[in-house]
Amino acid sequence: MNFQLTEEHEMIRQAARDYAQRELIKDVIERDETATYPTQHVKALSELGFMGMLVDPKYDGGGMDTISYVLAMEEISKVDASVSVIMSVNNSLVCYGIEKYGTEEQKEKFLKPLARGEKIGAFLLSEPEAGSDATSQRTTAEDKGDYYLLNGTKNWITNGYTAGTYLVIAQTHPEKRHKGINAFIVDRHAEGISVGPHENKMGMRSSDTHSVMFTDVKVPKENRIGEDGFGFKFAMKTLEGGRIGIAAQALGLASGALERSIQYAKERKAFGTEIANHQAIAFKLSDMAVKVENARNLVLKAAWLKDQGMEYGTTSAMAKQYAADIAMEVTTEAVQIHGGYGYVKEYHVERLMREAKLTQIYEGTSEIQKIVISRSLLKD
Ligand code: CAA
Repeated sequence: MNFQLTEEHEMIRQAARDYAQRELIKDVIERDETATYPTQHVKALSELGFMGMLVDPKYDGGGMDTISYVLAMEEISKVDASVSVIMSVNNSLVCYGIEKYGTEEQKEKFLKPLARGEKIGAFLLSEPEAGSDATSQRTTAEDKGDYYLLNGTKNWITNGYTAGTYLVIAQTHPEKRHKGINAFIVDRHAEGISVGPHENKMGMRSSDTHSVMFTDVKVPKENRIGEDGFGFKFAMKTLEGGRIGIAAQALGLASGALERSIQYAKERKAFGTEIANHQAIAFKLSDMAVKVENARNLVLKAAWLKDQGMEYGTTSAMAKQYAADIAMEVTTEAVQIHGGYGYVKEYHVERLMREAKLTQIYEGTSEIQKIVISRSLLKD
């Protein structure tokens, strides 16, 4: 067993770290306050090859492996999880979904601009009444011969406004329940699509989260992904990889909070010495570090399994659940270590704590990950 990263992995991690620590940090507090979409940063990350880093170079991607992806996600999430969620949805849900399951024509037409970062993708599964219960899709895709007619509403859509390409999950044969669901590639500017207002969120405030309404939207038949009825399995398989990205994001929030806490504890003095010299603080740092290291090992293992072509769905659920839960714990402890300073924006840790909460909710709550894990333990 080899725990050592390659030189290339180290270079990718360093490139992501440099960008995050030099550029993202400058205006992250202001973007959070004003909930402003990070346009120039998404452009810069496209130029660095990070928006389509997992895609094969023959479709204009970076051709990097999943380990590289999680290393980059961790570094970017230490500073700005709003930026990393945009990157994650584009890479591991939209690009991956089309590359793995799309036709050659779909890859030429839709994947290439996404991999170059010229367009951003969004993944439209959640609905007002179908969040965790994803089989209960109400959005319909009526088969009209050479096209489908989409009607319905999607909720909580990351990149909902900015995306150029949507992956939409919808019900074609309600009587077949989840076996009647399809997935479609939809031009976000197609007639009949309207986008709701920017959600005013607790954290990840500068990523654009919207509801999206479809009214008689015509989708060409060739935009369906896979066989008729493949949509639910498509969503589940794609989410297995998406969860590695969000696990890496949660890890970054936790490790970012730990780095800041170590630095603060070595500088801040109380009772005549740096607070790091008090065991009340040193033990907290130790507990946080153990959790971060465990999360990192699980995230890297899930990434490694995916890169080896092995089954990774259960491990990605474990990584997502564990990393999200410890991100909440570690960021909360970081605020405690910082005391009053932790509660004000300049010290960043309160924002990391607000952002960590979302990792326990989206791409499947922590409870959903436990359903996935326990079912795999209990299956015959
Ligand atoms: N791979 C392949 N097939 C799978 C699968 C997987 N990982 N998981 C389930 N399936 C299949 C099952 O085998 C079953 O098929 P058959 O009937 O042919 O056997 C079918 O899907 C239905 O599965 P279940 O009976 O297990 O379905 P369920 O209703 O009990 O629940 C669930 C499944 C795991 C709870 C699922 O609904 C789920 O993951 N829910 C959470 C949805 C989610 O993560 N949403 C996130 C939205 S995306 C997002 O957040 C992006 C963003 O913007 C940041």
